[in-house]
Amino acid sequence: MISRVVLLLLLAAGSLVDFATSNSLSLVGMHNYPVEQHRLTTRDGYVLTIFRIPYSQRGGGRKQVVFLQHGITGSSDDWLLSGPNSGLPFLLADAGFDVWLGNSRGNENGRAHKRLDPKNDTFWKFSWHEIGAYDLPAQIDYVLRKTEQAALHFVGHSQGGTAYLVMLAEHPKYNEKIMTTNLLAPLAFCSNMESKLMTLVLKVNDYMVEGEYTPGSLTQHTLSEVVCSTMIGKHLCQDMLFTLIGGKSTHINRTLIPQLENKESSGFSNRLLKHYAQVFKTGRFAKYDHGNATNLRVYGTSRPPLYELSNVAPEERVEMFYTDNDQLLSAEDAQTLGQRIAATQHHVTVRNWNHLDYVYATDVVQVIYRQLIQSIRDYKASPI
Ligand SMILES: *[C@@H]1O[C@H](CO)[C@@H](O)[C@H](O)[C@H]1NC(C)=O
Ligand SMILES: *[C@@H]1O[C@H](CO)[C@@H](O)[C@H](O)[C@H]1NC(C)=O
Ligand SMILES: *[C@@H]1O[C@H](CO)[C@@H](O)[C@H](O)[C@H]1NC(C)=O
Repeated sequence: MISRVVLLLLLAAGSLVDFATSNSLSLVGMHNYPVEQHRLTTRDGYVLTIFRIPYSQRGGGRKQVVFLQHGITGSSDDWLLSGPNSGLPFLLADAGFDVWLGNSRGNENGRAHKRLDPKNDTFWKFSWHEIGAYDLPAQIDYVLRKTEQAALHFVGHSQGGTAYLVMLAEHPKYNEKIMTTNLLAPLAFCSNMESKLMTLVLKVNDYMVEGEYTPGSLTQHTLSEVVCSTMIGKHLCQDMLFTLIGGKSTHINRTLIPQLENKESSGFSNRLLKHYAQVFKTGRFAKYDHGNATNLRVYGTSRPPLYELSNVAPEERVEMFYTDNDQLLSAEDAQTLGQRIAATQHHVTVRNWNHLDYVYATDVVQVIYRQLIQSIRDYKASPI
């Protein structure tokens, strides 16, 4: 019963916020960096809008491409919000790179499909499996074609890392298209998640309706209001989703918090959470569990098959960053992944570093980005 109440609150939370109108184009443009918008269609019909900062006045023309993939519930905007002093795309452009910002299906830049209507639940039948198996390859192919490059540098935060692993496990030929990889708190194994709230949500995920996670539309508006106007409800509704995805931190740029609480609740598919819930419960980094009968039809086995992590083998070792206080990715789970893919593990020891700090911390440049950018700069294509 308690679980149902928490879930209702969670569903209600989003109905209280006004959706921000800022987007990647204006977030880049306002700082006088050049910006381009590109549109592409995935093999299964989703239409994604992605963004590019082709160069910076400060950077030379290095031309190598860095591709950034955002985390769960987010979009390309996330990387840009903190501005040119600590926003990774700006810093990479200043360092001379051609920077591309990916988007996954379902977010504000991925709410379109050749045939399916986002108002129809069929549109929302995807988890991070499809983001890795379809969205990432489509975006990478598009970017490489446009820039006439053979390979790019990949940076993924959180679910962006999950999708990267899925992509390479499913389509090993993409290993060749990756120069360096930097994964910031990549979620794969997550059985040791510390967040009490998130683990509760993952445990009750069976109650979650299939379809889009747009809180207001899933519950009756009046019900949301009633629930959220109670003493406990008010507090919880305000920052539930933000807390859920690891926003509570001493490092986070406080100027951004009101904006983040808005952004982080723009819609996504409930299956993203359901899929993580399955990994959380079983400890298996496996494909989506549709239930025995459908699994048999789709996979040929009643148990969903594991992702083949031995296929994750880009030319350069994957660099991955994790900390001790990340509420979503524990050090233990990160190390399990690191061993499985033979990654170079950066165990960052700064205190109280949470899941969103990789993007929004005031000290993210010193703690993470300086080292990350250097690792990309150090890359030398092996002589042919
Ligand atoms: C915090 O965010 C604001 C708003 O985008 C930005 O102007 C400021 O530079 C950021 N501070 C740091 C230290 O990144
Ligand atoms: C939703 O889309 C599916 C597949 O295109 C279609 O069969 C179904 O009729 C649609 N449902 C509604 C309510 O429009
Ligand atoms: C699904 O199959 C597994 C064996 O693969 C079995 O243990 C489980 O009981 C089945 N579940 C249902 C609901 O039939």
